[in-house]
Amino acid sequence: MIEDKKIAPQTRREFLTTSAGIAVATTVAAIPVRAAGSAASSLAAFPPSASKPRRIIIDTDPGVDDAMAIFLALRSPELKIEAITPVSGNVPLALTLPNALRLVEIAGRTDVPVAGGASVPLVRDLVTAKYVHGENGLGGVEFPEPTVKPVAETATEIICRLVRSNPGEITIVAVGPLTNIATVLRSDPEIARLIPAIVLMGGGISHGNVTPAAEFNLYVDPEAARVVFDAGIPLTMVGLDVTEKVIVNESHIRQLRAAPNPVSQAAAKILQATFDLASHSDDVTYVAMHDPLTVASLIDPSLLSFTDYYVEIETEGEFTAGMSVGWLRPPARGSAPMALAGPAASVPETPFHTNAKVATGVHPERFFDLFIPRLTQA
Ligand code: BDR
Ligand code: CA
Repeated sequence: MIEDKKIAPQTRREFLTTSAGIAVATTVAAIPVRAAGSAASSLAAFPPSASKPRRIIIDTDPGVDDAMAIFLALRSPELKIEAITPVSGNVPLALTLPNALRLVEIAGRTDVPVAGGASVPLVRDLVTAKYVHGENGLGGVEFPEPTVKPVAETATEIICRLVRSNPGEITIVAVGPLTNIATVLRSDPEIARLIPAIVLMGGGISHGNVTPAAEFNLYVDPEAARVVFDAGIPLTMVGLDVTEKVIVNESHIRQLRAAPNPVSQAAAKILQATFDLASHSDDVTYVAMHDPLTVASLIDPSLLSFTDYYVEIETEGEFTAGMSVGWLRPPARGSAPMALAGPAASVPETPFHTNAKVATGVHPERFFDLFIPRLTQA
């Protein structure tokens, strides 16, 4: 489904510096890439504090599971949400932005600023996932128009301001296409060293879900994903390898419905509607808890186990754009050179360096033991 061809001023104006045919590689090259090993030294400069809540920005495309992620974060004292920055993805920004406003309103947390982000990917047409998330992004469940408004700053502006004024303090939790985050890194290349961590839902070492190669968030904006994965910021990748093992069932929905609070009630309605949509398909991953699992990894990292990988994002493949290619060890080889490149051409190799902690193991039942009480508590 191709939608919303409108150019988002804050995204494309900043990203495209020449014609529509700009080489994305030029843009990617404009982002300073840290040398191998520098991520660890950057983290050492900003040691995490065990006592204070972790300060996060949630970049998101609500989205059924995004809604669950936002609810979980809003009801978890271990996290302090500094801003929510919607982006186009599961549905266009024209829906993800009001949906985010609705969610903070339902949760009684209109103190959290919501700032609109990119309406289209960096250089591609928008592809949405309404077949999973319903026409309105919330499984088709209608909630009242939000009364709260987005803040005047754009997503890029608020992320830059919060990170710059709190160096080393703000973790980015990205659970949609990475357009907003890439735009931040493109517009303020020095900012990467001030971001202690990006925890993202995206990719999969073993497989994709939109194509056999690519997971949705990376499929929608592979060029943005490449900017983010190459920026040298410590990354945690919570991908399909684990998220597809965390599936909602009818008992979970019953438990949510039984609690009278508005968050639990809204979550039950959204998940029931998505469950019903999914019943027309034999694909149980329609109700996989991709995004809340990503948030949960910050609350209780022992829910997941991780393996260090060097992950690169495919941007040029005819059938594989958005694929997260993971190397466990060197050499990190590129494709065979084209004969036209001349007889002296050799196989391209990127210096091997781990750039992501990739989630490779998960305890699904322990996730629900955390998630359900957080939403149902009074
Ligand atoms: C991811 O894509 C979206 O549909 C979900 O919200 C999640 O972020 C899963 O591939
Ligand atoms: Ca999402």
